[in-house]
Amino acid sequence: MNGIKIKGTGQCLPQRVVTNEDLARIVETNDEWITTRTGIQRRHHISGEETIAGLSAAAARQALENAGITADQIGACIVATLTPDTLVPSAACCLQRELGLPNDIPCFDLNAACTGFLYALHTMECLLNAAPRKFGLVVGAEHLSRITNWQDRGTCILFGDGAAAVVVECREGWPSIGAVLGSHGDDQLLRVPGVEQDERSLIYMEGTKVFKFAIEAAPWCMDRVLEKVGKTVDDVDFFVFHQANARIIDLVVRRYHIPPEKYYKNIQEYGNTSAASIPLVLSDLVRLGKVGSGSRVLIVGFGGGLTWGGAYVEFE
Ligand code: UT7
Repeated sequence: MNGIKIKGTGQCLPQRVVTNEDLARIVETNDEWITTRTGIQRRHHISGEETIAGLSAAAARQALENAGITADQIGACIVATLTPDTLVPSAACCLQRELGLPNDIPCFDLNAACTGFLYALHTMECLLNAAPRKFGLVVGAEHLSRITNWQDRGTCILFGDGAAAVVVECREGWPSIGAVLGSHGDDQLLRVPGVEQDERSLIYMEGTKVFKFAIEAAPWCMDRVLEKVGKTVDDVDFFVFHQANARIIDLVVRRYHIPPEKYYKNIQEYGNTSAASIPLVLSDLVRLGKVGSGSRVLIVGFGGGLTWGGAYVEFE
């Protein structure tokens, strides 16, 4: 299979910023607890006229411009999300309309919770191998504030909204990103009820148990990906982690002796944005000049499902 590389990135965050102090007016919490237990200081929440379609389109336009390609060159579009504006049309079809993507391409949403972006990246690699157009648009976008339980202090302080996009290219001879994906069906630890159910569609999470799962899943994914692509930790220029909790990242980097200049946290600014979290890290890294042409990144994600995933991706 021919591999994909990242050619461009973009992001769009809602205007409204919600601080820990703001949340302390809603539930019994405080800035000190949130900062020390999660690393989060503020997050963005969708308000007013903002939508997933609008944020995704802005992020995607930036990514296309950054990649130096036009909408008509896109061969497939996937939006990783668990909070589209509407179930039908999908967020990807809304994006297709907004951007004027070609009609003869697949556009669809993918829900693998916080691992969604990695699932989408792998799916895109498979799709582009068979597509006549060799550029793909992968977006991670979430409106988690809409499904947040504002009475549950254990979860409502965690989540943020936002969208980020990458344009990838698939070329003959490029190695595969070596994605490793997995899941095991669990409806106890992390769930959001669906439309058919009596319960309101709000996030429920047993945080401590999910934390334990995450600190086992992340190293497992890292080891499997490196083994699959025949690389070592030293071959990686930058480590990109799903931003669920700063303590999870700290534990993993300590275990692998990863130096501070090789990983990055933006959870303090954005909170946990589920499927948007990894592309938000990627676009921040490009914006800050920390990665660029030739950089090799190891991406690791985990979340509801329970799901997990990893991939070794190069920037073109
Ligand atoms: O993105 C998908 C994957 N998600 C994750 O990976 C999330 C993983 N989990 C976590 O990040 C952490 O488990 C949380 C941040 C959600 C919670 O942190 P924790 O250290 O596991 O706290 P806890 O739930 O065990 O609660 C410890 C104490 C409790 O009080 P008592 O029973 O010890 O008196 C909670 O009631 O902290 C209390 N607490 C709070 N106190 C102030 C829980 N939430 C808050 C709060 N403010 N917001």
